[in-house]
Amino acid sequence: MADTLGCWNIADLRRKARARLPLGVWEYLERGVEDESGMARNREAFDRLTFRPRVLRKVDRVDTCTTLLGSESALPLAIAPTGAAGMMWHRGDLALAKAAAKAGVPFCISSASMMDVEAFARIDGIRWFQLYMWENRELSFDVVRRAQAIGCEALFVTLDLPVPPNREYLWRNGFGMPFQLNGRNLADILAHPRWLASVIGRYMLEGGLPRQANLPEELRQSVVRGAKPGALFKQDDLVWEDIARLRELWPGKLVLKGVLHPGDASQAVEMGADGVVVSNHGARSLDHSVAAIDALPSVVEAVGGRISVLLDSGIRRGSDVVKALALGADGAMVGRATLYGLAAAGEAGVTRALDLLGAEISRTMAMLGLASVEVIDSDALG
Ligand code: GLV
Repeated sequence: MADTLGCWNIADLRRKARARLPLGVWEYLERGVEDESGMARNREAFDRLTFRPRVLRKVDRVDTCTTLLGSESALPLAIAPTGAAGMMWHRGDLALAKAAAKAGVPFCISSASMMDVEAFARIDGIRWFQLYMWENRELSFDVVRRAQAIGCEALFVTLDLPVPPNREYLWRNGFGMPFQLNGRNLADILAHPRWLASVIGRYMLEGGLPRQANLPEELRQSVVRGAKPGALFKQDDLVWEDIARLRELWPGKLVLKGVLHPGDASQAVEMGADGVVVSNHGARSLDHSVAAIDALPSVVEAVGGRISVLLDSGIRRGSDVVKALALGADGAMVGRATLYGLAAAGEAGVTRALDLLGAEISRTMAMLGLASVEVIDSDALG
């Protein structure tokens, strides 16, 4: 595999990203919540799982293609929705979407993106849309209609942030909402002139910092100002009836993201959802949450093959994806792994991250004696 970045795994891209980003942006990307026990737990849970390979299985042609939520994907993998991509690279969300389209994997647009959904309309490939509910529910329904109008195939409703998460470092860094310049972050930003020029400088040349996207004109504010009344996300009053309402509104695939309990997974099936994402939000919502990969088997059992099951939280290697499939997931989603690539080198970095993960998935399957995605099952673990 040709490499032009000097990066041979996701950890290499992570190091490059760290060097390029100011601390405030880096910590937003990298860290978890409160005492941050969840990040290590997510990794430890993957590392605890071991493979038991079969031999002499003819693996000269390994096919990593699969169907994710009804669409063909070149890998059992999609790019997860992440809000602040536009602070990691100029128009970072578009770079993620383009790299995903080139790699033939789905990209999930974040409703907290710094770009309107319409910005993605011209990018080929599989588009999904992730929704947080705004305080003014009509704003949410409106953006859902806009996502439908640009051809999004699936709507992901994120449920694991009923209240804002406790990320103390964001306040310390002045990286809350609104962003506040202080002595600490000013010195740090000035110490990263490449980032300052290539990200902030380019936005300035285009007329200013990005504003909150996906809102009606009168509610938009610059990302460095607080939100206007009604334009804040508010999810603490959400109940299953709200999902029923979305089910009526959304004709495409409806996916509930952030499900860890089998009871919620069963209810998702009953509500007519098409899938769930087993996720602890990359350990960014509730500290001490069960690792997603540990919660996966009970969710798979509750769902019983009736709807799709995707998994995210902690994936850094192709082997992690294969472990998730072996435990019954239909596919995985990556957030930080492709953001490291984005922050390191823009679209080329995201492409590199996807190439690396794809090669690792294929190599792991070959080592296990598994030539296609549909033959991966729990027999591969031992
Ligand atoms: C938002 O979803 C975040 O994790 O920052």
